[in-house]
Amino acid sequence: MVTERFNASDIRARKGRGRLACLTAYDMPMAKCVDQHCDIVLVGDSLAMVVYGLETTRGVTLDIMIAHGQAVMRGTERACVVVDLPHGSYETSPAQAVISAKRVFDETGCQAVKLEGGEEMAETVAVIVAAGIPVLGHIGLLPQKAEHRGGFKIQGKDDEGAAQVCRDARAIEDAGAFAIVIEGTVEVVARTVTEQSGVPMIGIGASPACDGQILVTQDMVGLFADFTPKFVKRYGDAGKMIAEAVGNYADEVRNGQFPTLDHCFGVKKTKD
Ligand code: KIV
Repeated sequence: MVTERFNASDIRARKGRGRLACLTAYDMPMAKCVDQHCDIVLVGDSLAMVVYGLETTRGVTLDIMIAHGQAVMRGTERACVVVDLPHGSYETSPAQAVISAKRVFDETGCQAVKLEGGEEMAETVAVIVAAGIPVLGHIGLLPQKAEHRGGFKIQGKDDEGAAQVCRDARAIEDAGAFAIVIEGTVEVVARTVTEQSGVPMIGIGASPACDGQILVTQDMVGLFADFTPKFVKRYGDAGKMIAEAVGNYADEVRNGQFPTLDHCFGVKKTKD
């Protein structure tokens, strides 16, 4: 089933019109699996941990994100593909951010970029949007900055924290983001921000009241089982399935059951 690809404006127009289902993908095969089911496919910098085995999301470069963005674009034809701007590629100045966003946008053909940050990143978001590149915001818990904020801490726990999340959402919306990811935030705060905002709020560890939800696909299908955060629901055990298939293959190679002559070239097929 092929329909026209969703763009950022289509996603923006979904505010208040049913929930958005969003997942990550980092390569072509996974992109093909999620494309027909998801509104947004995010090439998240979570790939640093999930694919490259790094301890934080900070170890990936713009070139790495672009290569994965290109692979995901080849595997999708329907979803709005968003590529993360990695740590170090956009924080120095709005000018640096535009150069990075343009590279990602032009070299992958994706529909939008995502960057982390609230009020302090509003000008940067506005400048990228003014350059014609749609931006998905990301507020609340910011994995790229977690190291400097005392770890992966839930946001909005006290009055000042809640007010800050609300200010961040407002600033990023006013800067022109077409939607905003809200991560690791107290439920009532995420719900309030969703009610108050004019763009879709996409939750992860936030609230069922958000306009959409996003998870890391590998977490959700059981391919990254080292650690399962509270906000993840497991919908499958792909890791176990792959391990069983690999085990069966190895057994059959060792006991001579694979390959048979049917898997070889230049051998006439024997009649049963
Ligand atoms: O990098 C990522 O996968 C993300 C999502 C978890 C929202 O930013």
